[in-house]
Amino acid sequence: MCGIVGGVAERSITNILIEGLKRLEYRGYDSAGLALVSEGQLLRERRVGKVINLDTAVEQSDIHGSLGIAHTRWATHGKPTENNAHPHVSGKIAVVHNGIIENYQVLKQKLQDLGYVFSSETDTEVVAHLIADALKENNNLFAAVEKIVPQLEGAYALGIVHTDYPDELIVVREGSPLVIGVGIGENFISSDQLALLPVTNRFIYLEEGDMARLTRDSIEIFAHGQAIERPVKELDATVSHASKGEYKHFMLKEIYEQPEAIQQTLSQALNGNTLRDDFLKDAEADFSQIKQVQIIACGTSYHAGMIAKYWFEQLIGLPCQVEIASEYRYRSPVIVADTLYVCVSQSGETADTLAALRDTQKRAAANNINIATLTICNVATSSMVRETNHHLLTLAGPEIGVASTKAFTTQLTAFMLLVLKVGQTKQQISAAQLGEIAATLWHLPSVILKTLQFNNAILNLSELFVEKNHCLFLGRGTQFPIALEGALKLKEISYIHAEGYAAGELKHGPLALVDNEMPVVILAPMDDMLDKLKSNMEEVQARGGELFVFADENSEINSKDRQHVVQIPTISTWLAPIVYSIPVQLLSYHVAVLRGTDVDQPRNLAKSVTVE
Ligand code: G6P
Repeated sequence: MCGIVGGVAERSITNILIEGLKRLEYRGYDSAGLALVSEGQLLRERRVGKVINLDTAVEQSDIHGSLGIAHTRWATHGKPTENNAHPHVSGKIAVVHNGIIENYQVLKQKLQDLGYVFSSETDTEVVAHLIADALKENNNLFAAVEKIVPQLEGAYALGIVHTDYPDELIVVREGSPLVIGVGIGENFISSDQLALLPVTNRFIYLEEGDMARLTRDSIEIFAHGQAIERPVKELDATVSHASKGEYKHFMLKEIYEQPEAIQQTLSQALNGNTLRDDFLKDAEADFSQIKQVQIIACGTSYHAGMIAKYWFEQLIGLPCQVEIASEYRYRSPVIVADTLYVCVSQSGETADTLAALRDTQKRAAANNINIATLTICNVATSSMVRETNHHLLTLAGPEIGVASTKAFTTQLTAFMLLVLKVGQTKQQISAAQLGEIAATLWHLPSVILKTLQFNNAILNLSELFVEKNHCLFLGRGTQFPIALEGALKLKEISYIHAEGYAAGELKHGPLALVDNEMPVVILAPMDDMLDKLKSNMEEVQARGGELFVFADENSEINSKDRQHVVQIPTISTWLAPIVYSIPVQLLSYHVAVLRGTDVDQPRNLAKSVTVE
């Protein structure tokens, strides 16, 4: 998982940068590097592998500087090599970057036509050259960065230094976290405050779209070109990584962490628009043999499995069943040879899922039936990861809120990667289709970022739920499990009774419940089912139900009397369930806050259910 550390001080900050990188190691990475500005020179060291390799190299070269940036990289575009490690340089400029520049190929071509030579395969290097080019017209580093930022598409955070500006550190936050650590006569930046705790406990949390210029003595922040003040927050000394930071609740923090969490999960599997050679390599022999998939999970993880069923069957033609673990484990299901059993679990410790796995393995072994097992999990050291043949980690980082958010969307991301891998191994997906879906996966963080911008609109809608006792969520296809998930979220944290239904079932029962008092949430992405869904909406309206619609911006569904619409950015049908998770999470969050419940620790519920 990429990490950024940087600083501008009077003293040498070499050791502060290295220590900061070490503190980010837990996130995972495959190379590390730093660049320091010293006496008009850019001193750079980069190494593949652990931060200790970089540390040793820096110690040997004995480089020091009072302005610098450092980075741990998890390869996304280009292999994990020294050349691809950050910082990337163009002349006197060095850049570190988290996130993805989606349009880097177009930008790269333009820059190459202008004569810029690239020394890496990364998307990041375009940023360095773009700034160099902008500086030709204007010798103001901040203005040059400001000029090029609108050209960058995607979700990202940047740290930038230049040897001609030895007291200036420029940062940009657009979709990847970035925090400023406020010191005395020195200032720092990082993607995670944890990295800066040895040097300060005072932080400024940048907001999306913010740019900042840090010197030793000043911090200037700009939003849309206008200077703006952001509060300095002081953390108490005992703060750990499990801190809410700028957010009121862990749940909200975790909702906002989704663009980055998804990107991390993608990074382990994709190199550009292809699957990495090392991604689930050991599982290839098993994947080539399997004839079907059985998914087992509980709670929110079960909903992720329900969506994966659509993907396995529709995308690569592989039969797939999904079942709640507490049912599966007690009904003595037939163990079918050449089945891939997939456990999905945030914690990897859920008692029912673990018991279902163990029982399946035991019975398969006793009867000599060939099966393979795989866990999709957020905890690398968990029982399920240890006890299955293969695993795929959701690199969401610790999830503290009991109601699962970022674990869910990264499970979905992981599932799509798994489907692509199985499809590729079994030659059930063309390279073109795989490439197309990979490109859309990289696009996900920025679409989610745009969707998060509807937070205020969703907050306004949530006020209309506060007095309600019941709520219905409707969706079709892969939005049906999102309807279930939306209902689960709402009941878990706001204690409003909610039900999710496949919209096609409306006439078979739930329509009887619809009256003036019944809010009905509709999930309406652009897909083949949209017209049918519109008919369902009319059925609800005809009975006096009030509609709350999360609809594709091109769906032509607009707000009117008793129909409130939030328009969601267009996304490919395959990945729409991931994006539509966001508004239902935000809705239940705001309703719960307004109702004054304990959002992060709802009554009677636990994060990890390790007993039956
Ligand atoms: C509990 C949590 C849910 C979670 C479920 C399954 O009910 O509150 O958020 O979805 O357990 O947990 P797992 O760790 O297996 O995903």
